[in-house]
Amino acid sequence: MKDIAETRESYLEIIGLWKMFGDFVALRDITLSIDEGEFVCFLGPSGCGKTTLLRAIAGLDIQTRGRIVQAGQDISDLPASARDFGIVFQSYALFPNLTIRRNIAFGLENIGLSREKIRQRVDELLDLVGLPDQGEKYPAQLSGGQQQRIALARAIAMSPGLLLLDEPLSALDAKVRVHLRHEVKELQRKLGVTTVMVTHDQEEALAMADRIVVMRDGVIEQIGPPTEIYREPRSLFVADFIGEMNQLAAVAEDGDAVRVGEVRLDSRQHDFKPGEQVIAAIRPDDLIPHEAGHKPDADSGNCLRVRLREMEFLGSFWRCSLGHQSLGGQMLIGDFSVNAARRLSLEEGGEMMIELPASRLMIFGRDESEDGDD
Ligand SMILES: Nc1ncnc2c1ncn2[C@@H]1O[C@H](COP(=O)(O)OP(=O)(O)OP(=O)(O)O)[C@@H](O)[C@H]1O
Ligand SMILES: [Mg+2]
Repeated sequence: MKDIAETRESYLEIIGLWKMFGDFVALRDITLSIDEGEFVCFLGPSGCGKTTLLRAIAGLDIQTRGRIVQAGQDISDLPASARDFGIVFQSYALFPNLTIRRNIAFGLENIGLSREKIRQRVDELLDLVGLPDQGEKYPAQLSGGQQQRIALARAIAMSPGLLLLDEPLSALDAKVRVHLRHEVKELQRKLGVTTVMVTHDQEEALAMADRIVVMRDGVIEQIGPPTEIYREPRSLFVADFIGEMNQLAAVAEDGDAVRVGEVRLDSRQHDFKPGEQVIAAIRPDDLIPHEAGHKPDADSGNCLRVRLREMEFLGSFWRCSLGHQSLGGQMLIGDFSVNAARRLSLEEGGEMMIELPASRLMIFGRDESEDGDD
């Protein structure tokens, strides 16, 4: 996959983009390059500027400062109508008084295609989104998921160079959402269209994106492939926003270690000085479960005896709340496979040993604002 990514050409360049609403800075110096055919997700909490950035790319809200280049052309000052994109919004935004066919054909009718050509293209698009027999219905006669597929068909009808999606799946119920996730991704691959999707659903971003752009308060916190964002978060904000993360108040020690309560734990490499207040972070699925009597070897220390305060069955794994007196009252969450739970006879109230692999124990500063360095 790396090879493909490396041979790709940049398709969309965003250079030093700012957007102000009065005195309020909604986007602060955003610079970002998106490759041809890439699927990029803008991910971040509500109000961080995702929609604002997408609308700037579309020309629906012109940036205050900065430039946007699409397919080698500077489009910074072009109105939306002169740009080359298809867009899908969270609300289906279909024309309620037009049939599904007419909804999809809308843009095609405006460029003067023959009726026969339009009919063919609409048939093709209905097939593509898996709704070949729904053309004569009206939007209200379709389910939310079906309406969103039609919105997608309409967005790609003119074969745009860029597909923009603003939370297209978030109004749908969980099951439909997960199903459509795969369909949208497959369609995008098939068409090879460069795609930007806004979402605040980290699972969606992890599942769909080639690269994720994590945003916060109008700035980009981190850009990278899903596995990198998940495994190598550059700040506590990213670590915490994407996936579950245990955070333990800790004190830095010499030699890439920290002290949590009374326990010294080896950690990833860190640059904190001994005595500095830090946060030791580890994902619940990175805790390795052992039976209570487990004897750690000398070279794989980092073991803690804990009590299972609570166990929650989440289908494919158990989410366990773990307490330990020497952690100074702090709790840890551990996700253990159903197999592991059976093998180790885990039960609420019982004891067990957990290993915190040093390679998975990340150390961040206590003060969030000091973490954003790169
Ligand atoms: N037209 C506007 N006038 C004034 N402020 C605005 C306007 N549009 C957006 N904002 C502000 O800019 C910030 C970013 O808004 P934006 O809609 O981009 O957030 P978002 O990341 O898409 O959030 P959400 O996940 O809730 O959709 C918010 O604080 C919002 O209040
Ligand atoms: Mg938004």
